[in-house]
Amino acid sequence: MSEWQKTSWRQKPRVQMPEYTDEAALGAVEAQLSQYPPLVFAGEARALKRQLGAAGRGEAFLLQGGDCAEAFDQFSADAIRDTFKVMLQMAMVLTYGAKVPVVKVGRMAGQFAKPRSAPTETQGDLELPSYRGDIINELAFTPEARIPNPQKMLQAYTQAAATLNLLRAFSTGGYADIHQVHQWTLGFTESEKAAQYREMAGRISDTLDFMKAAGLESASNHNLSTVDFYTSHESLLLEYEEALCRLDSTSGKWLAGSGHMIWIGDRTRQPDGAHVEFARGVLNPIGLKCGPSTTAEDLKILMEKLNPTNEEGKLTLIARFGAGKVGENLPRLIQAVREAGANVTWVCDPMHGNTIKSASGYKTRPFDAVLREVRDFFAVHKAEGTVPGGVHFEMTGQDVTECTGGVYAVSDENLSDRYHTACDPRLNASQSLELAFLVAEELTSHREALAAANG
Ligand code: PEP
Ligand code: CO
Repeated sequence: MSEWQKTSWRQKPRVQMPEYTDEAALGAVEAQLSQYPPLVFAGEARALKRQLGAAGRGEAFLLQGGDCAEAFDQFSADAIRDTFKVMLQMAMVLTYGAKVPVVKVGRMAGQFAKPRSAPTETQGDLELPSYRGDIINELAFTPEARIPNPQKMLQAYTQAAATLNLLRAFSTGGYADIHQVHQWTLGFTESEKAAQYREMAGRISDTLDFMKAAGLESASNHNLSTVDFYTSHESLLLEYEEALCRLDSTSGKWLAGSGHMIWIGDRTRQPDGAHVEFARGVLNPIGLKCGPSTTAEDLKILMEKLNPTNEEGKLTLIARFGAGKVGENLPRLIQAVREAGANVTWVCDPMHGNTIKSASGYKTRPFDAVLREVRDFFAVHKAEGTVPGGVHFEMTGQDVTECTGGVYAVSDENLSDRYHTACDPRLNASQSLELAFLVAEELTSHREALAAANG
C-alpha cells in the first residue's frame, strides 16, 4: 500500500462529493480551517477506542445516535439538550436493565454532509443538483441555493464547536449527574414507557440513597456525576476532514480533529476510493457501514486497510440491512470476519435499510421494521456466538412525527404534523425510549444465555 498522507485521498476516485466551482474560494476556506483548533483531542479518541474495544468483547455497549443531518436553522441549545437528555435516558435504561456500561456517542457536532441516492432532484420541469447537507449547499429548491459554497464549512465548524462546548458542559457540569435521573424525565409526554422509566428512576434513586447512607458514595462520586460523551459523523466532505486533520505529537499519528469517531457510509466504502483512503490514515476509531451490497471479499480488504494491526476498538462494523434481510446478510459477513481473524465491534443501524416513501409522500420508517431489525441482529449474534456490540440510530429529543408507529402510533396521515428533519426520518423521544427498553431486553437475554453457556 502506498504511503498515507492527509492529502492522499485526492489521488483516488471520489463519489458523493460536490464539485466546487470557485477554486480560489475553496482554497481560502481550507487554509483558514487548517489554522483553527481541532474540535477533539487524540487522547479522547484513544479513550473511545478502548471503550469500543470493550463493546466488541461484550464488556460494554455502544449507544450511537442523533440527527440524520444537523441543520443550521435548527441549531439551538434546547435541541442539543433534548437529544442529549434522551441519550442519557436510553443509556440509563440499558445500564440498569442489562447491567452493562454504555458508551455514549452522538451523531452530533459535525454530522452535516449527506450522500444522496441521486445527483439531481427534479420538481416540475426544473432539475437541480441535490441538496447535500448544510455544510455544502441549501435545501431550498432554487438554482442559487443548490450551488456548493465552501464558506458553509466555516459555519459548520462554528456550529460544531459550539455544540461540542455545550455537550462538554452538560457532561461534566452537573446536568448528567445520575442524581438528576428524575429530572431527565420532565417535559416528556406521558406514555407507558415514560412510566416504566420513572419507576426505574425511582429504584436508581433508592440505590443512591442506600449508597450514601452506607458511606459508599464518596469513593465513586466522580463517576456518578459526570459522563463521557463522544461525537461522531460520516466522514464525507474530505476537504473539511483534511483541513481539520492534525498530527498528534504524543504518538506521531494523525488525528481526524473533526470528531471523536468518523464513519464511512454505505455509498462511499469503495476499497480503492477516496473515503477509505482518508480514513485508513487517522488514529480515530472508524465506523464502516455494511449493507446488503457489501461483499465478503470487499469486507476483508476493508478490514485489512482500515485496521492493519488488528487493534481492538479501531473498527466498528455498522450493519444496516433492513428488516427481513439481516438473516441472509449478517451471517456471511460474520463468517468473513471470522476467516480474517479480525477484531471488530458489531453494531446495528436499524434505520437506513428501512426507509420507505409513505402514501402521503413523506420519507418514513415504520417503527415496527426498526424493532424487527434490532431483534434480527441479536438473534443472528446469538446463533453465531458473536457479540452484539451496540446500536446506531437517528433520533431527536424533539417531539417529531417522522417515523410511523410506536406507543403513540404516529400514522401516515400524522407525518405532516411535525416533520422537521433535514434528511432522513428520525425516532422521536418516545420511540427512542421504547427502542431502548427493547434493546435492554434483548441484551439481557443475550447475556443470560452467554452466562448459562459458560457456566
Ligand atoms: C447515514 O448514516 O445517515 C447514512 C447515510 O447511512 P448509510 O451510509 O448507511 O446509508
Ligand atoms: Co440518515
